[in-house]
Amino acid sequence: MAFNALRRRGVLLSACVVVGGLVCAPQVRGAERTGTVSYTAEQAEHGAALYKQNCAVCHGGTLDGAFDTPSLRGRLISNWSGTTLDKVFHYISKAMPLFAPGSLKPADNAAIVAFILRENDVAPGPRELPSDEGALKKISFPSVGGKRAKKTSSTSP
Ligand code: HEC
Repeated sequence: MAFNALRRRGVLLSACVVVGGLVCAPQVRGAERTGTVSYTAEQAEHGAALYKQNCAVCHGGTLDGAFDTPSLRGRLISNWSGTTLDKVFHYISKAMPLFAPGSLKPADNAAIVAFILRENDVAPGPRELPSDEGALKKISFPSVGGKRAKKTSSTSP
């Protein structure tokens, strides 16, 4: 009987190894549930300073864009919703700032993404937004801001 129990556990463990981190890790580490966006207020504040230095000249001090530069508010959420956060992080890491693509460190780009999320009405949380694409791949791009705006304006009691 003890042998059977052990064997069952052995089977479970090897199943975990086969699917590798993806399925098992979120169950083991409850704090890192799939799909939960979290960034800290300090991280977004750091991102705000970096944004001012590296991005505002084109995307505008209030993220509204200018001329042929897209706004990083509102429309940004609909452009990227349905993707995971690694996509926009990757885009910013490789393509921005347009005059010096790839010049910012991963942690700085994560801070900028945190700042952009904040400016799109995504509330901060207890954990920092990760700065590696593997971890960001498990987090869905939030549609919070857009949805909330639509709901409050269209549903009147
Ligand atoms: C020299 C001007 C310039 C600077 C500086 C710049 N951008 Fe951009 N950015 C653009 C342009 C132009 C586009 C549109 C590119 C395209 O459509 O191919 C763009 C597109 C984007 C997009 C995609 C928007 C969408 O709706 O899909 C994001 C996100 C973005 N930039 C973030 C940043 C961040 C973050 C920084 C600072 C680290 C930055 N940009 C700095 C000009 C700039």
